[in-house]
Amino acid sequence: ADPDPLQDFCVADLKASPSLNGFPCKPAEEVTSDDFFSDALSKESNTTNIFGWSVTPANVLTFPGLNTLGISMNRVEIAPGGLNPPHSHPRASETGVVIEGKLLVGFVTTSNVFHSKVLSAGQMFVIPRGLVHFQLNVGEEKALLFTSFNSHLPGVVIAPTSLFASSPPIPNQVLTKAFRVGEDTIETIKSKFG
Ligand code: GLV
Ligand code: MN
Repeated sequence: ADPDPLQDFCVADLKASPSLNGFPCKPAEEVTSDDFFSDALSKESNTTNIFGWSVTPANVLTFPGLNTLGISMNRVEIAPGGLNPPHSHPRASETGVVIEGKLLVGFVTTSNVFHSKVLSAGQMFVIPRGLVHFQLNVGEEKALLFTSFNSHLPGVVIAPTSLFASSPPIPNQVLTKAFRVGEDTIETIKSKFG
């Protein structure tokens, strides 16, 4: 979903402030082959956390060679029973391939239709831009998948943390009305995000 580049590449100068469409280019004479290769997704991550998951991004911020090219990837690891919680990417569609494990992958359309499927190694999915989606590990082993995006910085809005763990917090009056529950329920949910 990013604009088309107007040159072969524009390796990001991350020390400069981002301008309208990405970072300024590092001077051509300083560009080397290393700018087009990255180890950003090579390491296994710890999934010992509240959701049992880890997302490692290779976007313009961690792989500056992607700047202005309209693509990026994530490495996603999910422990058995763990969840990549419902979230959306405001600037990109997403496609993914499962490398290891068994995952329930789902998203909800703007007509509120839920599409989902259990996937295993080699199988793919696509999440249309901006729609809320998740991956739940329904297997016995750790799951590993790689996702890719048509943006060098797709952005992510994580539904539970956006609603219940923003700073400053959304007033309880908004959340009790939105979810049609009492303040105690909202407080309980908020307290889960330390
Ligand atoms: C998975 O949904 C991801 O955003 O990498
Ligand atoms: Mn996603």
